[in-house]
Amino acid sequence: FSLKPFNTFGVEAKAKYFIEVNSIDELIEAVKFSSSKALPLLFLGGGSNILFTKDFDGLAIKLNLKGISEEILNENEVLVTAKAGENWHELVLFCLNKNYGGLENLSLIPGNVGTSPMQNIGAYGTEIKDAFVDCKVLNLETLEVETFDLEKCRFGYRDSIFKQEGKGTYVILEVSFKLTTKNHSIKTDYGAIKSELENLGITHPTIQDISKAVINIRQSKLPDPKEIGNAGSFFKNPTIPFAHFENLKEQFPDIQGYPNGNFVKVPAGWLIEQCGWKGKQIGNVGSHKLQSLVIINTTGNATGKEIFDFSTLIIDSVQEKFGIELEREVNIL
Ligand code: EPU
Repeated sequence: FSLKPFNTFGVEAKAKYFIEVNSIDELIEAVKFSSSKALPLLFLGGGSNILFTKDFDGLAIKLNLKGISEEILNENEVLVTAKAGENWHELVLFCLNKNYGGLENLSLIPGNVGTSPMQNIGAYGTEIKDAFVDCKVLNLETLEVETFDLEKCRFGYRDSIFKQEGKGTYVILEVSFKLTTKNHSIKTDYGAIKSELENLGITHPTIQDISKAVINIRQSKLPDPKEIGNAGSFFKNPTIPFAHFENLKEQFPDIQGYPNGNFVKVPAGWLIEQCGWKGKQIGNVGSHKLQSLVIINTTGNATGKEIFDFSTLIIDSVQEKFGIELEREVNIL
């Protein structure tokens, strides 16, 4: 069964078995089938953060659980719960339509609701943890449904329990967010948002304006996976010790960094660009010309292995020039 339509890189890979599930019962049945046949499991959401480098000799399960519900909590807050198979941006649009605030900075992020907690998706000054209340998960060992609150999820930058100890044990079924209904907190700290609002001539932005600004910024520099295969940022922005940053600053005065305790977070896109990768292509793979952190399937014919090898070349050259080890953000299979 071809997994090509289920990954935004658009690379070919085959799964031995494939099933789409529309309910928790169907999901449990599929999981039972896999254990009876001792098949490894792979869960597919929006496919926007995965790179297949080989075929999968197991059961791939596409999570199609749908539905969005809401519950008014008080004068200014509503609890919105979306099932795993809902498209992330459609959830954001649903909220903006109802004038519910909190997710607008996360407009146009590819992928589904069910994978959003995995890596605590974040952009333009917001992460989902800021509005997150809890999520329901299926424990694959006990086949019981459990609830994970904010603390239990242990969110960090592009990180959560689901990428650490919980990896492979839980399937996210639905996610709940606490959103504002009137006194919205408008987040314009991120430089790019400020300048885009200025461009648009907006001085008192609404949540809808913030969304518009974010959509404009993203569309201006991030390739649309429907047109050109990619998985957004391929690497995480690395965090390095302050002393290392100071050293680099002497050699590379333009380097930027966002201090965080004794550490400094450095934009991987800048490091990659400095190594000469921006817009560069090898075979069917390239680094995007407007944002070098994004690796693209330039011709549409790239294999996962080619993309992976390209990313290794980038890691090696950043290591050599800056002594920084880039970590892949995309899941490699
Ligand atoms: N930069 C360069 N060259 C490049 C790319 C970036 O010099 O080729 C510099 C920019 O000039 C800027 C800095 O790096 O000064 C940061 O760039 P940008 O604002 O584009 O953000 P980023 O750190 O590269 C992160 C997220 C994005 C998210 C944006 C906006 C990660 C790994 N990526 O990118 O997330 O949209 O911030 O908040 O944290 C994603 O995860 O798929 C993703 C797109």
